[in-house]
Amino acid sequence: MPRPKILSTRPLFEAARRILDATCDVDYWTSPERINRAELLRRVQDKEGLVCLLTEKVNDELLAAAPKLCIAANIAVGFDNIDVPACTRRGVAATNTPGVLDETTADFAWTLLMAVARRIGEGEQLARSGNWKGWDLDQLCGTDVWGKTLGILGFGRIGRAVARRAAGFRMKVLYHDAMHATEAAERELHAEYRDFNALLVESDFLSVHVPLLAETRGLLSGPQFARMKPTAFLINTSRGPVIDEAALVHALETGKIAGAALDVYENEPFILPGLKRPNTVLAPHLASASLETRTKMACMAAENVVAMLTGKRPPNLLNPEIWKER
Ligand code: GLV
Repeated sequence: MPRPKILSTRPLFEAARRILDATCDVDYWTSPERINRAELLRRVQDKEGLVCLLTEKVNDELLAAAPKLCIAANIAVGFDNIDVPACTRRGVAATNTPGVLDETTADFAWTLLMAVARRIGEGEQLARSGNWKGWDLDQLCGTDVWGKTLGILGFGRIGRAVARRAAGFRMKVLYHDAMHATEAAERELHAEYRDFNALLVESDFLSVHVPLLAETRGLLSGPQFARMKPTAFLINTSRGPVIDEAALVHALETGKIAGAALDVYENEPFILPGLKRPNTVLAPHLASASLETRTKMACMAAENVVAMLTGKRPPNLLNPEIWKER
């Protein structure tokens, strides 16, 4: 039996390579430069499997260029880069990496929350600048985190992991989601449901954990910032386009909110210059970036590919319809 041919747009990690290499012939893109679109379309032509990043669009164009493709395995939980209906139409499995990054992403949302509240970016710059003149009473005073109200927009696995961490800070936890959590989950996480507007009005820290969908694109814009407290901070580790960035810049400039900490942007890797302000903390899409978690994500993508190409149902299938057809 010939071994299935795979394209991986990154060299991955040793553990993930071992999984793939055991059954597949893998064309690893190893250049430090990202694979460009033309090269991706060329290399995927004769491949049955694709391991890809969230920066690569799997759409009709790519699928048309890859007539043998059976699976596109995204190394990310978010899959807005994949046109899942287009994959389904062509019988191509699409998979993601849910679950393994929840705690790491929640850690990072808290990292950003603490950083923006306690002005770590400004403090670090001062400490490194050589201009620090020593302790001063009113120097870089930030905002207390403990005892405040944490609003969580999107109460899935990651939003809940963020909520769980709030207990140590004795915070009040509110959430909004299209679906109410069960009473048991609300009790366990000490979280109360609010409608969207009430969440905006009551939160001191608003942390965003919704997937990017047609309904969540631009969910936070001028009218929403106007409802928030002028002392409130916005934290986003979900997807950039959930926030209208131009409106966010305006809200920050006009004091509608106190600050923002962002890991994701509307047009990555471009960051709107207006976001580069003292009251923002900006990270380059790092929320799941611990070595342990990124390794798990790569292994999960590899396992999905191997399952599909050895006749088993990929564990993280986004389009189960393609499997029923078998
Ligand atoms: C990262 O942004 C992911 O969706 O896993």
